[in-house]
Amino acid sequence: MKIALSGKGGVGKTTIAALLAAGLARRGYATLAIDADPAPNLGPALGLPAAEAERIVPIAEDADLVAMKTDTGYAGVYNLSFPVDDLIRERAVMTPSGAGLLVMGTVRAAGGGCTCPAAAVVRALLRRLVVGEHQAVVLDLEAGLEHLGRGTAAGVDLLLVLVDGSAASCAIAGRIRDLARELGIPRTALVGSRLSGDEGVAAATDCADRLGMPLIGVVPDDPGVAGAGRAGGPVPADGPTAALADDLLELILAEAA
Ligand SMILES: Nc1ncnc2c1ncn2[C@@H]1O[C@H](COP(=O)(O)OP(=O)(O)OP(=O)(O)O)[C@@H](O)[C@H]1O
Ligand SMILES: [Mg+2]
Repeated sequence: MKIALSGKGGVGKTTIAALLAAGLARRGYATLAIDADPAPNLGPALGLPAAEAERIVPIAEDADLVAMKTDTGYAGVYNLSFPVDDLIRERAVMTPSGAGLLVMGTVRAAGGGCTCPAAAVVRALLRRLVVGEHQAVVLDLEAGLEHLGRGTAAGVDLLLVLVDGSAASCAIAGRIRDLARELGIPRTALVGSRLSGDEGVAAATDCADRLGMPLIGVVPDDPGVAGAGRAGGPVPADGPTAALADDLLELILAEAA
């Protein structure tokens, strides 16, 4: 199962990605959480101490690794056919949540046909990631989706698009829905996040109706999560947000079965 999260900036993608990854790991899935945001912060959300998270060198920014994978010895000629399983084995960091973490670095050009070697490594990794029955990948994307292409979206089974009840988040969700169709992502669904009260839920429901997308989960505005975010600590493993993320995961797993 390969789940990607997208949506407007600040809607809670990283928070829900961390809860889904932790929930999958708890259920016995070998889980890899991939931080594909150029400003990565999934590590601390998964419980990695800040100092440890800061020491991680993103794949795209590791010049030696990129050169090792793509060098042909000829300037401007890159090897684009290389194994990626060793990257995961050697570069994924285990987090206290039970999920492994892989930090990609800037993937902006990963789908755009860019031949720069760093983007090629990231693209190859995301494309060739084969996810078996008891394995899961949770992909935390940069806000929006426009910069992504087939390379990054390849093989995603389910794209969760987060909306926070604002008109702006719904408009971006509409663009993401269209792009996901173009990219051939088989399933997309809305998740309401940081919703304030019944009005927030009503706005998310209204957005789902307008976009013709299923709304498969709603997460309230949760002071406990906001506090953890301010402190830069892990997303709380209990409380209303964790409980709703767990319900969401149950639904996703039931539908995938
Ligand atoms: N349900 C919630 N209730 C209250 N605060 C939340 C909730 N979900 C996330 N937050 C807080 O909102 C901020 C943004 O959340 P998060 O980083 O998960 O969003 P994002 O969509 O990944 O943002 P970005 O687009 O910057 O990557 C964080 O400080 C986080 O703690
Ligand atoms: Mg984020």
